[in-house]
Amino acid sequence: MTSPVSAAERRRPLVVAIDGPAASGKSSTAKWVARVLGFRHVDSGALYRAATAATLRAAPGDTGWTEDAVLAAAAAVTLVPGETSFHAHLDGVDAEEELRGGAVTSRVSLVARMPRVRDWVNAMVRRAAEGSPVVVDGRDMGTAVFPHARVKVFLVADSWERAKRRLVQRLERVPTDAEIADEVDALVQRDAKDEAQTRQAADAVLIDTTYLTQEEQVERIVAIARAAMR
Ligand code: CDP
Repeated sequence: MTSPVSAAERRRPLVVAIDGPAASGKSSTAKWVARVLGFRHVDSGALYRAATAATLRAAPGDTGWTEDAVLAAAAAVTLVPGETSFHAHLDGVDAEEELRGGAVTSRVSLVARMPRVRDWVNAMVRRAAEGSPVVVDGRDMGTAVFPHARVKVFLVADSWERAKRRLVQRLERVPTDAEIADEVDALVQRDAKDEAQTRQAADAVLIDTTYLTQEEQVERIVAIARAAMR
């Protein structure tokens, strides 16, 4: 898992970093792990999505998406602490449905490639982790953002399984094979666009969740985190 922990490291609030590709179950798992441990969950992807949604609100359409324009629009985004999670708000309001919609999903990788947008997200996430222990999820939490995180996990799953889970979550019914095949294409395309941002830390525990229930995933990560806290 991680290298030996120094005394200074032990005094810092604990960070559990969960990374992985699109729809690998990071956010739902991270939320659940945070609840079990009594930590707060921070979803870095939600901040990239919020910056994208804010840009779409400011300039609907696909022109004018410069880094400066995205950063200016992102001023409307706040990260608000809740009881068990931080929530990305747009203009002071929870806009979860907008953040998860197709218009944002198809543009978010473009925004996530902008270096100053990454700096903006990373600063927000680090600030959230300053005061109390957190479970953070994303693509580069265990590498670029929290290289000294005490617990690092990298989640992977077969693309068919990831597509199926994402559709069950979105449609709230069993998807057809044709729907799953279309979703696999979309996920694989997004993985390719996100490749440069997605990094498995050398000291991360790799968990393949293809044949695990969410409960089993959560139990494994909680066990790793409890061992690191001892
Ligand atoms: O849908 P999924 O759970 O895979 O994605 P997400 O965690 O909501 O992240 C949405 C997008 O934000 C990703 O497709 C990446 O482009 C970007 N992202 C990133 O670049 N780095 C992160 N640490 C988190 C998300």
